[in-house]
Amino acid sequence: VSEIVYASDAAAISANQLTGFFVGWPNPPSPETLLRLLHESDNRVLAIDEDENAVVGYITALMDGVLFGYISSLEVLPAYQNRGIGRQLVARMLDELNHLHSIDLVCDPDVQPFYERCGMRPCSAMILRRRNHINP
Ligand SMILES: CC(C)(COP(=O)(O)OP(=O)(O)OC[C@H]1O[C@@H](n2cnc3c(N)ncnc32)[C@H](O)[C@@H]1OP(=O)(O)O)[C@@H](O)C(=O)NCCC(=O)NCCS
Repeated sequence: VSEIVYASDAAAISANQLTGFFVGWPNPPSPETLLRLLHESDNRVLAIDEDENAVVGYITALMDGVLFGYISSLEVLPAYQNRGIGRQLVARMLDELNHLHSIDLVCDPDVQPFYERCGMRPCSAMILRRRNHINP
């Protein structure tokens, strides 16, 4: 099992290190779109398999820097799931946002137990999705 390193900076990452994500999306964002998303988010943490020279997981957050932060995406590549990488990404992001009063995210019911293990609790949410606004 190769070693995973974590980074809070995507400056040295290129799109060809970002393949295999958005599993199951009918119109998945491209690696280039994911790279932009990592750059434009206020915070991001990457899990990198250095042997493979590939990003194998990421988490992003948006925040106002005063009270409110929002975890906007989290994904671990299927071949790397259930090794504690998701939990590490959440823990590192919560640590980066530990000056904020609230940290929210939206998820499906099947991942609620995962986030509960990360110290969060369920709440209700309202969403809007525009499926034609994914890749530029
Ligand atoms: C959810 C996800 C990020 C978890 O990443 P991971 O690296 O597999 O998770 P970890 O190995 O750190 O798991 C931490 C704990 O949560 C549990 N867990 C992981 N995924 C779970 C799930 N879907 N439902 C319930 N528990 C889960 C693990 O069993 C583990 O428990 P343990 O600490 O008692 O052993 C990953 O499954 C994923 O990318 N899923 C697809 C995308 C997705 O759903 N993202 C979230 C969008 S809101």
